[in-house]
Amino acid sequence: MRWWDIDPVLELEKDLFPEDAWSRGMFWSELAHARGPEATRRYVVALEGDRIVGYAGLAAQGAAPDGEAAPVGDIQTIAVRRDQWGTGLGGELLTELLRAATAFECAEVMLECRVDNIRAQKLYERFGFEPIGFRRGYYQPGNVDALVMRLTDPSSSVQGTEING
Ligand SMILES: CC(C)(COP(=O)(O)OP(=O)(O)OC[C@H]1O[C@@H](n2cnc3c(N)ncnc32)[C@H](O)[C@@H]1OP(=O)(O)O)[C@@H](O)C(=O)NCCC(=O)NCCS
Repeated sequence: MRWWDIDPVLELEKDLFPEDAWSRGMFWSELAHARGPEATRRYVVALEGDRIVGYAGLAAQGAAPDGEAAPVGDIQTIAVRRDQWGTGLGGELLTELLRAATAFECAEVMLECRVDNIRAQKLYERFGFEPIGFRRGYYQPGNVDALVMRLTDPSSSVQGTEING
């Protein structure tokens, strides 16, 4: 994802996360950490022709400079245009993020997901994420709880998958 993708991404964002859509500034700030040798973010878009039909982002945080602590990966966002749901695109985006987590040498990857978002949870479970707890009232407004999920050893989830750019 590059800065010129932010406008079309925001359109999808408003449709897919109507209650808590990210702002333009949030995407800008994430992308500011996505390039260069010190990068801690990986943001990708999925294209159908020229049209963006999905996007996803991962943050790798908490690495100790001496290499004593491995960073923890966080799935910041993952989204697929409604008319493409169930086609496996979510899985492709997640695969790309887990490859990035492997490249960042993350020992584990965490995420939060609305407790009522069964489709997303199924996707995460397919990749080996396990529920480890709840964050009460994490999503506001609406006071919806978050399910916290964790994947240990992200590299083993994407072993043998092809790298294509
Ligand atoms: C979550 C999301 C990214 C999944 O994308 P996708 O392209 O549909 O993902 P996939 O096709 O790879 O997999 C979807 C899973 O949902 C399952 N599914 C299909 N229809 C379903 C239904 N009606 N109800 C529940 N699950 C369903 C599929 O079987 C698949 O599970 P599997 O991996 O065990 O087979 C997409 O639905 C989305 O953008 N949702 C809105 C944004 C969002 O909620 N993001 C996640 C925030 S935590």
